Amino acid sequence: MSRPANAEKFDNPVIQWIDERLPIFTMLIKEYRVFPMPKNCNYLWSFGGIAMTMLMLMIVTGIFLAMNYTPNTSLAFASVERTMRDVNYGWLLRYAHMNGASFFFIAVYIHVFRGLYYGSYRTPRELLWIIGVVILLLMMATAFMGYALPWSQMSGWGTTVITSMFSAVPLVGDGLVTWLWGGFSVDNPTLNRFYALHYLLPFVILGVVFIHVWALHQTGSNNPTGVEPKTPKDTVPFAPYFSTKDLFAMVVFLTLFMGMLFFAPLALTEVDHFKQFDPMQTPEHIVPEWYFLPFYAILRAFTIDITIPFTHVVLLSAKLQGVIAMFGSIMLLMFLPWIDKSPAKSARYRPLYRWMLAALVAAMLALGYAGSQKPEGLPVYIGMAGVAYYFLHFIVLWFMTRNGLWVLIPKEETLPVPSSISDDPCWKH
Ligand code: HEM
Repeated sequence: MSRPANAEKFDNPVIQWIDERLPIFTMLIKEYRVFPMPKNCNYLWSFGGIAMTMLMLMIVTGIFLAMNYTPNTSLAFASVERTMRDVNYGWLLRYAHMNGASFFFIAVYIHVFRGLYYGSYRTPRELLWIIGVVILLLMMATAFMGYALPWSQMSGWGTTVITSMFSAVPLVGDGLVTWLWGGFSVDNPTLNRFYALHYLLPFVILGVVFIHVWALHQTGSNNPTGVEPKTPKDTVPFAPYFSTKDLFAMVVFLTLFMGMLFFAPLALTEVDHFKQFDPMQTPEHIVPEWYFLPFYAILRAFTIDITIPFTHVVLLSAKLQGVIAMFGSIMLLMFLPWIDKSPAKSARYRPLYRWMLAALVAAMLALGYAGSQKPEGLPVYIGMAGVAYYFLHFIVLWFMTRNGLWVLIPKEETLPVPSSISDDPCWKH
């Protein structure tokens, strides 16, 4: 049997037999053992693997929860309560799934921040980054639909508020909302389609993650200098160096996760999530899960309709501005590789950019706070300031990494970048 010159040889005859017909073991060795990793990658490079572990945990716990769940408006809430009280370890499955979603988002938000800090979105990893943004959108859709399933007050009203925002789309808005709901209110057809999609999407995410890692293995990993590896001396094999490092990071992360799971499983959950949905009674305060709060604040930060001057003809309603800004805030990330043209990739050599990133994180936290409060008084202004900075960040980044903008935005000055990873003074101890 003719085999490619780089195919592995295995002592175990069964493995050799399989590999000759399906070179899966050769592929695993190439991608997960000898795969060259820049030797200076820090623990922030472990969060992709951690996110992967959380995705698997969500799928496994979700499948077992589904075995005890009934997607019908009159039975859904009771079926979840039954899982909690009467199913063996049902409480563990549900709490692991609920808190797992939070920890999955923590891992992915840190993963994205790492990309922003070290310029991992820059060439040649643009497509890898764009696929990442697609994963983020899919994760958000999945989490949103999952929150509807227990059919609690928060489920029903959260679903109503968020799906209703599509009514802001000109001309077809109301029809679009009716189509999404499968009727004239959030009801059984809505619950059924959310359940079907919530079961399906994690597997779509798994497929897209496979493509994400495939793209990564095409370009190789970035590293804290942002300088591509030049010689074999700049890299080490993934196993055992990074496999053990990732494993250690995973154990620490999962220990924190279990701390939350066993000692404070309800710390992040609203009390109205434990009352059955009553379409006749609106809860006093409708709030999404913490990981959606900044985006919820962006949605609500627009309060004034744009009209044709001196008339009452509305050109762009406040609601539609909020919807555009909310989706735009994520879609904008896809264009980041072409917005940022700095000669240095890593924030290590970009003092001004470092401050801007710190301000961006502060803006996201401020937006998170604004999203958690009632839309009145100071939180509304904090939300508006947060939105303004969020979009300003990308505009300033565009100009400062080109020629600046008059006296308003100076051209970025970067520090000297080492010529190779091995020349990095932070690496040489
Ligand atoms: C389910 C969610 C995700 C999983 C399981 C995942 C998985 C991974 C893995 C295993 C790696 C290699 C290890 C590492 O560099 O950390 C990686 C790299 C990367 N991911 Fe993700 N990812 C996810 C979401 C995202 C998102 C949302 C983005 C961006 C918006 C993103 C952007 C990147 C980039 C740019 C790299 C290369 C980083 C570098 O080499 O510096 N990923 N991802």
